[in-house]
Amino acid sequence: MADLLISSPHRYLVRFHPKRIAHAFTDVLIIGSGIAGLRAALEVPAGLQQIIISKDQVALSNSAWAQGGIAGVLDPVDEFSNHVADTLAAGKGICDPRIVELVVHEAPERIHELIEWGAVFDQENGSIALTREGGHSHRRVAHALQDATGKEVMRALIARATELPNAEIWEKTFTIDLLTHEGVCRGAVVWNREHGKTLVWAKQTILATGGAGQIYRETTNPAIATADGHAAAFRAGAELRDMEFMQFHPTVLYIAGSSRHLISEAVRGEGAYLRDCTGERFMGAYSSQMELAPRDEVSHAIVRQMEKTRHPCVYLDLSHLPKELVRERFPHIGKVCRDFGLDITRDLIPVRPGAHYMIGGCTTDDEARTTVPGLWAAGEVTSTGLHGANRLASNSLLEGLVFGRRAGRNAGAAAAATPDEFRPIPLVSDWPTGGPTDDELDLTDLRNSLGSEMWRDVGIQRTLAGLEGAQRQVDFWSTYVAAKEFADPRGWELQNMLLVSRLIIAGALSRRESRGTHFRNDFPQPDPGQAQHFSIQAGPT
Ligand code: SIN
Repeated sequence: MADLLISSPHRYLVRFHPKRIAHAFTDVLIIGSGIAGLRAALEVPAGLQQIIISKDQVALSNSAWAQGGIAGVLDPVDEFSNHVADTLAAGKGICDPRIVELVVHEAPERIHELIEWGAVFDQENGSIALTREGGHSHRRVAHALQDATGKEVMRALIARATELPNAEIWEKTFTIDLLTHEGVCRGAVVWNREHGKTLVWAKQTILATGGAGQIYRETTNPAIATADGHAAAFRAGAELRDMEFMQFHPTVLYIAGSSRHLISEAVRGEGAYLRDCTGERFMGAYSSQMELAPRDEVSHAIVRQMEKTRHPCVYLDLSHLPKELVRERFPHIGKVCRDFGLDITRDLIPVRPGAHYMIGGCTTDDEARTTVPGLWAAGEVTSTGLHGANRLASNSLLEGLVFGRRAGRNAGAAAAATPDEFRPIPLVSDWPTGGPTDDELDLTDLRNSLGSEMWRDVGIQRTLAGLEGAQRQVDFWSTYVAAKEFADPRGWELQNMLLVSRLIIAGALSRRESRGTHFRNDFPQPDPGQAQHFSIQAGPT
């Protein structure tokens, strides 16, 4: 039994009847085409059919935006025990040590496998070039295209996945809900503009839908990160946990119109300073690790310094670093800043924290199994126990590779062991009243209001009054938004974001302490009695 039960008004966001909808059948259905989804696809045996659902174009996943890199012990002076210790320290007491060991030990193999598949990592003196990021005691972050690692890694994975003779990729297809029958996952109901709704029946399903950053007004995440997988899994009865832990990246470009572009932690890894508006290098007042403290600590320090100086941002300063190194090492960040008239070798870069990575998600075991039979999951939509209360930088692409592989391998084996049964289950999604709405709600207004509310009251610093106010507000919006049946993704995304906001708030209210990314002004210290995960599941409506 989960620690918290939260009601979910409808099992499915839309109604459907098996006699009035298209059907498709596959052995393995993979929902999501980022690093975890495509790594899973590469593991599904050639004799099985698979369908990969991509919400936008395959090349536009959140993974492709990753700048920093992939962490792994690749330098002989480093050791697995160091990477394990750094991950545990960053996670603030609630990492699963078994999962940390497993992931850290697999890292070099997963990185070398990417190289065999054509991914080109940056080199230094004939070896993979390694950088540092916050919380890492050694240089162990492998990077590509200098500061656009995700783009290169995804190029290699996409090239390989698109050659798979057993895979169909459905782009621009929205997954509305997971289908369950007698508690077992049987596929998903999906939608695209051309074909409308389709029931995709699968022997095994893998969820790899990524994150939820769009819930917050300030985020590094692309527009697709609307918590769809978290919400669908919850409605399907999966247990989720750690939902209070949204990780805020400390340094997000703060220029109006810049779409809150990430300024990689690797910038600090190569020696950049953080300064406040008076020019003071302030991190020394907060951590002996200075700019390379773990992410939660740097984000908190920045917020406090912004409050102290009554200024809306702080600044990254690279002007003391060799100009050639800065230009060569950060071509992408340099270009983004140049578009706003800033020269990163000389000018201060205005930054402040923004929502970056959802640590909470579907509870999975070390084989990527969720709590729903027939459903596997990998990547940001999961809570594997690797990150604890605060993810160590550059451990996320790694986690996607390690558990994507396991999900693909295990779902493939389970599908191979299931007899062919290519007929739909007579599953009907019925609603008591109403019909698809004409969209009379101003969805953009609601979405902006939700983002502001979550940023203000469920952001980096939380209070009881703020969380209770957010709960009242989000519950109020949810009552009338959840009651509607929408006809396209804008409405479904809003419903998903409202639902997942409710889960984040419920988790944040339950955790009456401060730990990692979750900071409560009313309980500013960690409580050893709460060094555990809080799980959430759908309760009675
Ligand atoms: C970054 O480049 O700072 C992001 C890396 C990460 O989120 O792990």
